Amino acid sequence: MLGWHHGGDSLSAHAQAFNDAPQRMSATSPSLVTRTVALVGLMGAGKTSIGRRLAQRLNLPFIDADAEIEAAAGGTIEDIFERHGEAVFRDGERRVIARLLEQPTHVLATGGGAFMDPSTRALLKAKSITVWLKADLDLMLARVVRRNNRPLLKAGDPRAVLERLIAERYPVYAEADLAVDSVDGPPEATLDGVMTALAGLARSGAT
Ligand code: S3P
Repeated sequence: MLGWHHGGDSLSAHAQAFNDAPQRMSATSPSLVTRTVALVGLMGAGKTSIGRRLAQRLNLPFIDADAEIEAAAGGTIEDIFERHGEAVFRDGERRVIARLLEQPTHVLATGGGAFMDPSTRALLKAKSITVWLKADLDLMLARVVRRNNRPLLKAGDPRAVLERLIAERYPVYAEADLAVDSVDGPPEATLDGVMTALAGLARSGAT
């Protein structure tokens, strides 16, 4: 077992942001969302980059689940995969996301495999608004090849891996509350798409 830190633990670079958020929100307009917004989707779909900007727009804290897993494990995701294997990573991912979902409303970027885990998926569906960010294969590929830090993409030709993951995962990502195209170019276009989708959900009374 890894030395995962628990509870109100050492992951707390973001903790203060949680404490500040309610005051900030009440001082401004009522939020479009009353629950955490969790971004799901494949590697390279833009979950972290859009999530960060979405949090700013919504005046909420942003949390990146992968960064929290790394902080809890005291090592990088690559290290965890290499030294302990994917099963241990998934176990830690499940526990970290369960804990994050107990935090006050925020924007959460999840790793691409998180929503594939049945218990994480059930928790995300119960406790957050789930948004599937969906990008073209070529766009995801162009983004992921810029960095060589994703263990699953080292298992073979990155395009072939992404194609396989699309086949396996898209039917499951489709269970998210909302699906938004993550488009090439300035992130504002995708961000506007997410805001529009959230507004539609709010109007339908589902938030
Ligand atoms: C994974 C995606 C990664 C990271 C890990 C496994 C996956 O996150 O959690 O490498 O299974 O798709 P990103 O989607 O943020 O790259």
